Amino acid sequence: MSRFPYTSPARDRAHPVTAPLRGGAAVLRPLLPGELEPQRAVFDAMSPDSRRARYLTPVSTLTTGMWSALTAVDGRHHVAWLASVDGRPAGIARYVHVAPCTAEIAFEVVDEQQGRGLGGVLLDTISTIAAASRVRRLQATVLAENSASRGLLAMIGLRLRGSGGVLEGESSFHLLERPRVDRPAVVGVAFAVREGGGLLGERVPSQPA
Ligand SMILES: CC(C)(COP(=O)(O)OP(=O)(O)OC[C@H]1O[C@@H](n2cnc3c(N)ncnc32)[C@H](O)[C@@H]1OP(=O)(O)O)[C@@H](O)C(=O)NCCC(=O)NCCS
Repeated sequence: MSRFPYTSPARDRAHPVTAPLRGGAAVLRPLLPGELEPQRAVFDAMSPDSRRARYLTPVSTLTTGMWSALTAVDGRHHVAWLASVDGRPAGIARYVHVAPCTAEIAFEVVDEQQGRGLGGVLLDTISTIAAASRVRRLQATVLAENSASRGLLAMIGLRLRGSGGVLEGESSFHLLERPRVDRPAVVGVAFAVREGGGLLGERVPSQPA
């Protein structure tokens, strides 16, 4: 069920952006409000270890409430982008505002596609949109054993601390030194869809606060 601000014209504006991977390419686009299917596909293609890394606890299914939270994107306070490889959902990155200029980020890549650079592509995509949207600080929580995630977050300057197997952090951030995605294209699509205008020159009503 599509909720405002992404009416069907906005869906048309969600032109995909292509990014290179080792031995292939990913196609990226914003997830739309209520868009469940690709999120389920990504979850289904994650191993128990990857799900635990993403949700910080072993999970074999997500509750209805969790799916509702994950699909409650609005392009502004909750931004999520889907990456597909060979036409199949392969990863998702998101941020959710926790304060006016602070957002929590999370990302996941299906096991079959890990190690090809997609995590970096997704992180570059979501941090670029955050920076362009006046998000100044990011939060993240990861398992201490999650070297790949810690490495990625360190590359945008996010400092994590903690004990007992879970690391948390909130800090200012910077973009990856080496772009992994066409940043102007990503920002262009994100803003066009968010504002409900731009690429097609149409306007839909702006989102209620
Ligand atoms: C973390 C995760 C997103 C990384 O995705 P990925 O597509 O494998 O990442 P990339 O291939 O872009 O690799 C990212 C960097 O981490 C490094 N890396 C990858 N796997 C690593 C590992 N096991 N240990 C140490 N470093 C690792 C790579 O060297 C790479 O750096 P580079 O781009 O400079 O070469 C993926 O493993 C995942 O989805 N894990 C489960 C969910 C999760 O942990 N989410 C993060 C918490 S919200």
